[in-house]
Amino acid sequence: MSKAPAFTCTACGAAHRKWNGQCEACGAWNTIVEDGALSTGPKGSLAKGRSIPLTDLATQGAAPPRASSGISELDRVLGGGLVAASAILVGGDPGIGKSTLLLQAVSAFANKGLKCLYISGEEAAAQVQMRAERLGLTKAPVGLGAETNLRDILTTLDREKPDLAVIDSIQTMWLDTIEAAPGSVSQVRAAAHELVTFAKKKGVSVILVGHVTKEGQIAGPRVVEHMVDTVLYFEGERGHQFRILRAVKNRFGAADEIGVFEMTGGGLSEVTNPSALFLSDRERATPGSAVFAGIEGTRPMLMEIQALVAPSTLASPRRTVVGIDGARLSTILAVLEARVGITFAGLDVFLNVAGGMRVNEPAADLAIAGAILSAREDVAIPPDMVLFGEISLSGALRPVSQMENRLKEAAKLGFNQAVAPRAAKVQSQAGITLREMADLTAFVGEMFGAG
Ligand code: TYD
Ligand code: MG
Repeated sequence: MSKAPAFTCTACGAAHRKWNGQCEACGAWNTIVEDGALSTGPKGSLAKGRSIPLTDLATQGAAPPRASSGISELDRVLGGGLVAASAILVGGDPGIGKSTLLLQAVSAFANKGLKCLYISGEEAAAQVQMRAERLGLTKAPVGLGAETNLRDILTTLDREKPDLAVIDSIQTMWLDTIEAAPGSVSQVRAAAHELVTFAKKKGVSVILVGHVTKEGQIAGPRVVEHMVDTVLYFEGERGHQFRILRAVKNRFGAADEIGVFEMTGGGLSEVTNPSALFLSDRERATPGSAVFAGIEGTRPMLMEIQALVAPSTLASPRRTVVGIDGARLSTILAVLEARVGITFAGLDVFLNVAGGMRVNEPAADLAIAGAILSAREDVAIPPDMVLFGEISLSGALRPVSQMENRLKEAAKLGFNQAVAPRAAKVQSQAGITLREMADLTAFVGEMFGAG
């Protein structure tokens, strides 16, 4: 092996050849640190020099065995339940509710007959117990541990042979073979490597909790993303009670699947009908509001997009977004200006997704444009209308995936009209008047009577 030093960004996990003040990959400052050596390198070749024919694998043809937790929002995000011997990373901001979620999850799995261990490196066993009491989980047969030394933890796991072990959090774990402090890139990476290797070898599923960090002192979950089978992020806006568990990588299921939870005094409860939840009061038509019929993973979901457009006192007007990519907003504003001739010069634009939801789909373009135009023209979009469609740079509306599922969800929630891109063979749904439009000019003309 070459001795050239390697460096890693603690915020995004990008590898660098040399030290730099700013990470070129994510733009963060002072987050690049030198790597320590991995404790265990590759030892010999595959199964001591033998390979096995793919067709001989015992599980051939069968779906991997999965354990259900009974928490359907969690099972769906995992791809239909927990796969044996899998390694899962759950990342999220501190205080978002990761420990709460995982304590509830291990209890649910334990109640289904799995042998579960919850190992906390952040709280004393008594504190975890108190939390479990508050959540009403004391009856579940979960083994608790408060430990940060990985050697002790691996010994415990080897002795007790659980089906599932939760490690809360990976940043508190340390290996005595590595000199760096807990939470440093080399410790986090080595600890994750040891745990994942152990999981695969001994058939124990492990869930690693990782805090997302903005500063460079502690390595974020990005550093271990590539080592695990499944990466879930637990997200939500501060001040909102809703939490989204999102699969960003899953070797055993669809990525982009989400589970929706609500943080209550008694812990996290499932939200099984999220569309109803993300729509605010739809009785009255208000300018600046548009309902987007989106798809999150395999599930259709309606979300309300809200916009405010006001005269600006600034030389370069504000473009403020919550839950939507700022670059997407700029693109849509530019297309409106260049292709339809509607300018936003001298106007502040504020854009927000109701309920603390995040929208990443390009299919949201039309609803975003609709909300902004509605705010600018002070003309309300009918409250029983949903919109979806991708806006291309030419101003054309491009068809998006699963249009019929989007319409079906809208019909289910009592909407009567939909604006969608013109596409061949889209069946409208009972109760929905489908208005297909070819481009933004047609959309502006029909909806706002201007151009
Ligand atoms: P926690 O699970 O400790 O977050 P993390 O492990 O991601 O750091 O959750 C902390 C927050 O959750 C805290 O601000 C209080 C809130 N909370 C509730 O609202 N209800 C509850 O029943 C529990 C246990 C926590
Ligand atoms: Mg915690």
